[in-house]
Amino acid sequence: MSSEPREPSADALDDSYGPDDGVLVADGLTKRFGGLTAVDDLSFAVQEQEILGFIGPNGAGKSTTFNCITGRYPPTEGTVYYRGEDVTGAAAYEMVDRGLARTFQEFRPFRDRTVLANLETALVPDELFSTSGLRGETRAQAIDLCERVGLGDDLYRTPDELPHAGMLRLEIGRAMATSPDLMLVDEPFAGLAESEIGQLSELLEQLRDEGTTLVVVDHNMRGLLSLIDRAIVINFGAKIAEGPPEEIRQNTAVQEAYLGADDGS
Ligand SMILES: Nc1ncnc2c1ncn2[C@@H]1O[C@H](COP(=O)(O)OP(=O)(O)OP(=O)(O)O)[C@@H](O)[C@H]1O
Ligand SMILES: [Mg+2]
Repeated sequence: MSSEPREPSADALDDSYGPDDGVLVADGLTKRFGGLTAVDDLSFAVQEQEILGFIGPNGAGKSTTFNCITGRYPPTEGTVYYRGEDVTGAAAYEMVDRGLARTFQEFRPFRDRTVLANLETALVPDELFSTSGLRGETRAQAIDLCERVGLGDDLYRTPDELPHAGMLRLEIGRAMATSPDLMLVDEPFAGLAESEIGQLSELLEQLRDEGTTLVVVDHNMRGLLSLIDRAIVINFGAKIAEGPPEEIRQNTAVQEAYLGADDGS
């Protein structure tokens, strides 16, 4: 009934966005896999240098949204803008060239290479590495990158020798190797203890302070809400809430969809 009270932000949830509403904009983004609508008419805008939380229960469509933005899959419908330009369906390498990087939830480092070699490979593709004489320069950059992500003492370890938190840092380092100005970070806290979440949050905050815009997905509500400036919450591929962390914590729709099932607050 139209006389029923609505959440104060309910109108805003239906907004559509234009190319200049943020550094990254999704407007009416939809992705169907056969009969399943994984992302359902989703619209949002990411502002320069913010840390935006992208929240939702298992299977809500978070990774699929990242996949549609970063060129892994073309969206079924809708538009993606990056820095004012329509980049809908652009290839993954093109998005990287434009300054957008992402981490993968199911990442696979080169297990037979050291941490340092993994990041060297991320900086320069193998074929270029062996022919261009860039070895020394690349090595210096890779060492710098290792230090920035907190792996400065682990240069010559293989990924399997790292603690789990180190693996997640390595994946963030891999994404940083392309010098992105926006990073989509998929579940950086998965499987971490609370103290490790704090340390990784510090790294993400440092990246933001250096000028990187971040969109961060995670299941750990407490860890995520203390890191982010603002959150978008989705369920069944559609936006159910948007706002600052304190509003999200108290939002009934969010509690029903998510907090009840995973009491991280
Ligand atoms: N390539 C694909 N083919 C078919 N269905 C897919 C594909 N990728 C994702 N899905 C489905 O789309 C829905 C959304 O999945 P997605 O991985 O985006 O969720 P998520 O929010 O990232 O979940 P999680 O928190 O578990 O990582 C799920 O029902 C999933 O099974
Ligand atoms: Mg996912």
